[in-house]
Amino acid sequence: MKAVILAGGTGTRLKPLTFWNNKHLLPVGRYPMICYGIAKLREAGIRDIVLVTSRSAIGDFADVLGSGRDWGVSIIYRVQEEAGGIAQALELANPVILPGERLVVLLGDNLFEQSLRPFAEAFERQSEGAMVLLKEVQDPRRYGVPKLEEEGSRIAFIEEKPEAPLSPYCVTGIYFYPYEVFDIIDKVKPSERGEMEITDVNNVFARNLQLQYRILEGWWTDAGTFESLEEAGQQLRGELP
Ligand code: G1P
Repeated sequence: MKAVILAGGTGTRLKPLTFWNNKHLLPVGRYPMICYGIAKLREAGIRDIVLVTSRSAIGDFADVLGSGRDWGVSIIYRVQEEAGGIAQALELANPVILPGERLVVLLGDNLFEQSLRPFAEAFERQSEGAMVLLKEVQDPRRYGVPKLEEEGSRIAFIEEKPEAPLSPYCVTGIYFYPYEVFDIIDKVKPSERGEMEITDVNNVFARNLQLQYRILEGWWTDAGTFESLEEAGQQLRGELP
């Protein structure tokens, strides 16, 4: 299984910290934010990583991570020329993933406690479709929110930032896909805000009855606001896993 870390974007909600620094390189505890995702992948035995980021930030990522050698992984960089949504960023990894290969996709600002290993193993056993990790949250309206099927571990559909959430869960930025995800991205149209939404991609799997979920235990945050960045810093004070 290969990994794709998406680390582009403009970090609007963290300005002015992100005027000169990519969000995923901001300090969290003792390390730049990006290092936690890398460490989680390495700990789960996933060492081939594609990192997608913007033209202006790619040199900074190369300064911190290099080839990945010092972090126990191997990194291939892809440049997102302009921000066009999570699905568009993921598409840029396509040339690096071999047909038939499976992938785990991490949004680089998603920081969490639990190991990815059991989920990666569960996905290897899954015969078809995709799998996403959910987390129960206080205010699901900020996120993609799943409607769960009553039986089994399947998602009926996902609503992006709904007014009236249909469950107390958010879809975290941790996704497991088969290679066919790239065919689905090809067919997805930009949303009203002009972005290729990952929720639209996931809903294609859901419509085909092929979107499984697991619940992430322990602590989780997407460190995209000042509050969540500060919380992440408090949680992640020690060494990398
Ligand atoms: C994105 C996804 C959303 C998901 C969230 C998790 O939202 O669109 O479905 O719940 O990441 O971090 P964004 O942070 O881009 O608003």
